[in-house]
Amino acid sequence: MKSIHADEALSVMSGREDYDAALARLREVSQAYYGDGDSPLDDAAYDRLRLAVLAWEQAHPDEVAADSPTGLVGDGAAPVGDVAHTTRLLSLDNVFDPAGLVAWGTSLQRRLGHEPAGGFTVEPKMDGAAVAARYRAGRLEQIVTRGNGTHGEDVSHVIGTIEGLPEQLPVPATFEVRGEVLFTREQFETANEVRTAHGAQVFANPRNGTAGTLRAKDRPYRLAMTFWAYGAVELDGVAFAPSGATHAETLAAVADAGVRTTAGTPAGLHVVATLAEAQQKVDAIAALRPDLPFGIDGVVIKANDAGEQAAAGFGSRFPHWAIAFKLPAVERHTVLKDVTWEVGRTGVLAPTAILEPVDLDGSTVTRATLHNPADIRRRDLHLGDTVTVYKAGDIIPRVQAAVVGLRPDTAQEVPLPTACPNCGGEIDKSQERWRCAKGSACALPALIEYAAGRDMLDIDGLGKTYVNALIEAGAVTDVADLFVLTEEQLTAASGSAKRGAKLAEQIAAARSRPLSRVFCALGILGTGRSMSRRIAAHFGTMDAIRQADTALMKEVDGIGEEKAPVIVEQVALLAQVIDKLVEAGVNMTEPQEPKATGDGPLADATVVVTGKMSGPLENLGRSEMNTLIEKAGGKAGSSVNSKTTYLVCAPSPSGKPSSKALKAADLGVTVLTPEAFAELVADHLG
Ligand code: IVH
Repeated sequence: MKSIHADEALSVMSGREDYDAALARLREVSQAYYGDGDSPLDDAAYDRLRLAVLAWEQAHPDEVAADSPTGLVGDGAAPVGDVAHTTRLLSLDNVFDPAGLVAWGTSLQRRLGHEPAGGFTVEPKMDGAAVAARYRAGRLEQIVTRGNGTHGEDVSHVIGTIEGLPEQLPVPATFEVRGEVLFTREQFETANEVRTAHGAQVFANPRNGTAGTLRAKDRPYRLAMTFWAYGAVELDGVAFAPSGATHAETLAAVADAGVRTTAGTPAGLHVVATLAEAQQKVDAIAALRPDLPFGIDGVVIKANDAGEQAAAGFGSRFPHWAIAFKLPAVERHTVLKDVTWEVGRTGVLAPTAILEPVDLDGSTVTRATLHNPADIRRRDLHLGDTVTVYKAGDIIPRVQAAVVGLRPDTAQEVPLPTACPNCGGEIDKSQERWRCAKGSACALPALIEYAAGRDMLDIDGLGKTYVNALIEAGAVTDVADLFVLTEEQLTAASGSAKRGAKLAEQIAAARSRPLSRVFCALGILGTGRSMSRRIAAHFGTMDAIRQADTALMKEVDGIGEEKAPVIVEQVALLAQVIDKLVEAGVNMTEPQEPKATGDGPLADATVVVTGKMSGPLENLGRSEMNTLIEKAGGKAGSSVNSKTTYLVCAPSPSGKPSSKALKAADLGVTVLTPEAFAELVADHLG
């Protein structure tokens, strides 16, 4: 049989043979998914394959296979149990963009014969497995999977392991609640730890793990999951919610009975009057996605009124009164090709996954962060594995887990370093994060290069090669040594008297950099450019910084419980280096910026900058933008929240707003183009 892959499907499905091959692939993939939980395709690829089949079926209605999985709930592959559902447990039709939502609204209006009068609800589409849970007189008696929508499997063995779905309610209610079971991110991590401890394979992602856990009846361990209801129906003819209750009222009754509902998630359930408002709520929930403690794969919009739901009715697979607005995949499958190790400024060995390039949420991902050796082993990662890569919002992509079912015979456990990848010396393995036994001395070249960088001491021309030469010659053992280098030493390191003289000039100029830059050049953990500026502005002098205890350090904006003691400790550890800097005549005070008067155009404003700048700000990097904001009397923020005054953001070329722009829209934060912002701070430019 000819096999067809999702990416090819759209472009190559030209004839009956291709259609048959695509159907076979669709069945194979959904059977694998409902079987061992390891789907050979990720969601995005699966959706594309399914859409290609649907498109072909629409174009060739006479040739649609009688048993096409596109007409069946769960694409016909979910294990069908022997428990009959009280009423059919259906799926949802999908739209992928605002135009699709508008089209759904038009078809709903056509079915009703008028505009929906009862408004809409908007709630998250939880990415787990659908179940029906039956309560009789307040006791949870049975949990049934969706199956084929008419019959499902009895999975009552999980009763007692699902948060939000209590075994006993505080009220003697009889009803059937319907919703989604899933692993929260935290539960997923714990589940994989428990499984590894039992010699079981890690789950590839939370959703696959849920499907497998619902089916597994004889595991020697139990894994906690969470439930959120998105509906309820009558059971045994006993009335539950008041007759004619809206969707929002039904969920409120479920919550009152003691079961968790989508309304209780941080994304909430919103009741709106129009579809345009529903779209705004979709955008708002999408913007929250990175911060949610569980996975969502879309947002569900429903007609709220029971009468209008009944009038709109049902198709064979889904109700006409509800629609899923699918969000772009934030998780894809790709192949783990290699793992590289770098030694950071503090001597920590940081692993990076090198991946087969994969398109994820609008960007091509080739690398992802890994945590530490123990975590690599916990995730059971092998080179050659198909892995799930996850990215949410602005967060750096990370490797979630291996899809163990797809492991090739040639795969090999990720090798862990036996010597420091930087200096070849011993590794200190006493903590989960391995370090070079030499600590920050190993990373000295990186630290010096960092300190000499444009945003710190700005010693033009002092790059990697000369830094290495100076360290090898023993002329530089810490950042303070830079300021006592002779022109001869610099000439020897750079190989030219002219370059040596130029470097000496640059170093002399670096002596008068403001305290914020000097402090930043120390390379203290958690004190990048912005934080160093805040610390320097707050204390004014290096002496004051050195005298600060944890309580005083916490007074600096953005420094909390966790950071304060680390900074205080590191400042103390650097005492000798700081003394040497003072002795070398390096400036230790922060000039008072005009912002101190508080009357710049950005007085009291908090400004967040995102994306590439344009117009008069085109050449400004993030750090320079932050300086500009502070010069104009404002404060630079890193994330959009209720304290944000302006978001500076160029319109995205794709037209797709960034997550920060969506959040700003939701919170009513003023969004300025770089050009408009440049006008606002014109007096401080240049
Ligand atoms: S409503 C008849 N609401 O998504 C109503 N479904 O892809 C049908 N899902 O089968 C379901 N969150 O398992 C609804 N807030 C939500 C949901 C939700 C997740 C699942 C559900 C459904 C699947 C369709």
